[in-house]
Parts: sequence; structure tokens; C-alpha cells
Amino acid sequence: MSRRQLELTGLKTGWRCLEVGGGSASLGGWLAEQVGPGGEVTITDIEPRWALPRREQAHVRLLRHDIVRDPLPGDGYDLVHARLVLLHLPERLQVLKRLVGALRPGGWLVLEEFDCSWVPVLAAPDEDAAALFRQVHTALNGLLEASGADPLWGQRALGVMVRTGLVDVMATTYAEAWPGGSTGIALHRHNVDQVACQLVQAGISDRELDRFRILLQDPEFVANSYPLISVRGRRPFEENTP
Ligand SMILES: C[S@@+](CC[C@H](N)C(=O)[O-])C[C@H]1O[C@@H](n2cnc3c(N)ncnc32)[C@H](O)[C@@H]1O
Repeated sequence: MSRRQLELTGLKTGWRCLEVGGGSASLGGWLAEQVGPGGEVTITDIEPRWALPRREQAHVRLLRHDIVRDPLPGDGYDLVHARLVLLHLPERLQVLKRLVGALRPGGWLVLEEFDCSWVPVLAAPDEDAAALFRQVHTALNGLLEASGADPLWGQRALGVMVRTGLVDVMATTYAEAWPGGSTGIALHRHNVDQVACQLVQAGISDRELDRFRILLQDPEFVANSYPLISVRGRRPFEENTP
């Protein structure tokens, strides 16, 4: 899905790309294949250790880098991409402006973000199970917000990109069913495990968390994935200067 969004920018050999908060660099590595040795891919992350096995190509730079505080690693990029990064950053608006400033005129910014508000239960063994899922999910969103994340950032990103002065701004939204036991639904399991103590403080009992984990393994339970809203826009070739 994300590869398709990047291809829609006209991605081609020789491009210089910045992959922000690249995680394990699965997309950064793919970008490196697309631009070839005549191009350049800079992959940043505040914790780049998950991407270390990928850094052997000469035209790929892997940097430990904080997109909020560190100077940008370059400018004049043909493409800047960040997936599921700005959602978590309280400084997302300033970061977005920095990313736009890192583009060459005509260069593309692609942001891919979840809308964490829309995860309907599509099937459940009983109504209690569906209610439990909604309860834990609401608590997770509350914790996200409390830490400065914006669970609705996915649905705000396009408007902000337009107001930042980007043109040709378009979005595609992707969602799928996540049945219990599937790879996708394991995201909820990881999220719950990482913040189990905070969830208990927020009023979810240990027993409910155990039931929630079991539910995520039940093939009779199906939840919608988070919708991934992929927004792309380009820096204008001519900018109005005040
Ligand atoms: C949800 S993961 C997404 C990883 C990857 N973009 C993907 O979609 O597979 C968020 C990533 O952003 C990184 N990150 C968080 N804060 C950051 C910051 N201030 N500067 C750079 N990277 C950051 C995290 O270390 C993590 O790898």
C-alpha cells in the first residue's frame, strides 16, 4: 500500500529521498532499490537500531536523528516520506513545516497516518466481547492523547498540508478486516502490552486485559484495521513571497 503511494509521486531513478522515522527501514530499503545507485536515500530515526542490518548500500544513509530537535540532514529532496511518525509528535505542525522546507520546488511530501477513531468491530462472539474491545481501544486512545499524540491526525493531515502551501494534495485511505489471530490485529496486542500498567491506572482491570488478549486470538472476532490515510502533496515550483 505505501509503495503504491510513493509510486504515485512519479518516483524514479536518481531521486534524492528522505525517509523520516524509518523504523526497520523496510520502506527506506525499497526506496533505495527504486532510486538506484545514482540516487540517494537518507533514513532517519531517533532509534535506528532496527534498521542497522540494511545500511550496507553506498547510496543509503542511516542516521540517528531527532526530527523535532536536530538540524535537517539535507535539503532539496525530491521526496520526503514519513509513516506513522507525526501522529506521535506533539510538535507535528512545526515538523511538517520543516519537512516541506526540505523539499526542492516540485518535490513531494508523503505522510501516512492512522485515523485511530474508526475501528468498528465487524464480528464478535458476543456483545460483551465487542464492548470490551471498544473499552480497551478508547483507553488506548486516551493514553495516546495524554502523551501528546493526536489519534485523529490522519484525518487532519490533508488540511494542514494544504494550509502549509503544498499543491496537488491528494489522499488515499486504506483499511482491511483484521480477524483474531492475524498479523494485523497483533498491533493491538503489542500496544496493550507496552502500556499495560497505564491501562490499569486508567481503569481497565488485569482480568479485562487478559480477556482482551484472548479475544485478539479468537478467529470469531474481527475488527476493522485503523484506516491508514496516505496524503501526498508537492511544493509549488513558484512560491508567493510576501
Ligand atoms: C510507529 S513507528 C513507524 C515506523 C515506520 N515509519 C513504519 O511505518 O514502519 C514510529 C517511528 O518513529 C520514530 N520516531 C519517534 N520519534 C521520533 C523523532 N522525534 N525523530 C525521528 N524518529 C522518531 C520511532 O523510533 C519509530 O521508529
